[in-house]
Amino acid sequence: MEPFDAVRRLSAEELRVRQLERLRATLRHAYENVPFYRRSFDRAGVRPDDCRSLGDLARFPFTVKDDLRANYPFGMFAVPQDAVRRIHASSGTTGRPTVVGYTERDLSVWADVVARSIHAAGGRPGHKVHIAYGYGLFTGGLGTHYGAERLGCTVVPASGGMTVRQVQIIRDFRPEIIMVTPSYMLTLLDEFERQGVDPRTTSLKVGIFGAEPWTEEMRREIEERFAIDAVDIYGLSEVMGPGVAQECVETKDGLHIWEDHFYPEVVDPVTGEPLPDGEHGELVFTSLTKEAMPVVRYRTRDLTRLLPGTARPAFRRMEKVTGRCDDMIILRGVNLFPAQVEEVVLRTPGVAPHFQLRLTREGRMDHLTVRAEARPDATPEARTAAIAHIARGVKDSIGVSVAVEIVNPETLERSVGKLKRIVDMRT
Ligand code: DLL
Repeated sequence: MEPFDAVRRLSAEELRVRQLERLRATLRHAYENVPFYRRSFDRAGVRPDDCRSLGDLARFPFTVKDDLRANYPFGMFAVPQDAVRRIHASSGTTGRPTVVGYTERDLSVWADVVARSIHAAGGRPGHKVHIAYGYGLFTGGLGTHYGAERLGCTVVPASGGMTVRQVQIIRDFRPEIIMVTPSYMLTLLDEFERQGVDPRTTSLKVGIFGAEPWTEEMRREIEERFAIDAVDIYGLSEVMGPGVAQECVETKDGLHIWEDHFYPEVVDPVTGEPLPDGEHGELVFTSLTKEAMPVVRYRTRDLTRLLPGTARPAFRRMEKVTGRCDDMIILRGVNLFPAQVEEVVLRTPGVAPHFQLRLTREGRMDHLTVRAEARPDATPEARTAAIAHIARGVKDSIGVSVAVEIVNPETLERSVGKLKRIVDMRT
């Protein structure tokens, strides 16, 4: 297992040295073993040896999701097939899935970074970890599973779905930690209440939530309703899976990126120009140790900014990801992200933390309806007030007019994993 004290004590200087060495090896590995990278470097007129400092990485071309799709299924692999120990794939919303592969060593590094993440979240050997991320081609279940085992935890591999049974298992097995999407945690919350169990009385102490955006308002809601600490875990299959970055429980101030394995940049999403730390833009990753499928300057589409390390000083933090380039709704010229609406909905009295965004078109005008669910005890007056509260909140914070509908309790679709917030009825 990884010595966590070494992670905590690593100096920024030591980290930079390690990063450059690993970066150069990765560029060589990609260039020599993946025809796609050879072509793309050649076209850009760069060779792996041109990378003499970390800043030189900016001279190398980006990789995007379509590049992975174009090389479906195994064209991005840099090792012979018999060295690939596991394959995952992300379904994506359209087109071919993107396929990723891992060698034995990749799987070990992955388990290490997830173990490091759970440790930073407050998990310790001997804790029971209930995993309700889906098992299968999705990286969430198996990725967190092996990390929790690596840390020395007792894993309950519940996977997603079968909510009634999940709650029963949590009541009976008494885990300290739960790993699940924040939206599915809300589904579990409803089920605890349905079974007449106060969610604040469970054995849970920490929830490690990720795989989808969630806000500070959602953190507050979950922490209060369950009486737990809620921390954020980030990752994506193309770069590894869960455990690329993790929020530390003692600070809850954004996610420390495990930069000794995943080198981050933030670039202007339109021009691709690298941005200095502190500025908002699109997150880009280069893997530093991956064997089976190295990625060079992979554009995540996730929007955030880089900040200096705190609880793990050598590692930079990324601010909570609250939007993706792809999730941005442009409504009459105004950019809007579901997370901004989440902030407003969760501050509204009488409304449950369940909402949906429905896009429609009348003539040439796009319309957005925020559909939020009333809490069971909300009076008709409270519902009317909630409509005005949400409409005004969205207008004030985002600057655009939306319609609001308050629907009856238990009517909006519940999450069993990653929740789709936007229902696009324009086509
Ligand atoms: O969602 C890996 C994962 C599993 C992360 C479990 C955390 C926990 P993909 O299916 O490839 O991988 O989706 C990756 O999900 O680019 C983000 O847009 C989004 N995402 C992941 N974690 C977070 C997070 C997994 N903490 C995509 N906050 C990423 C916001 C997140 N968005």
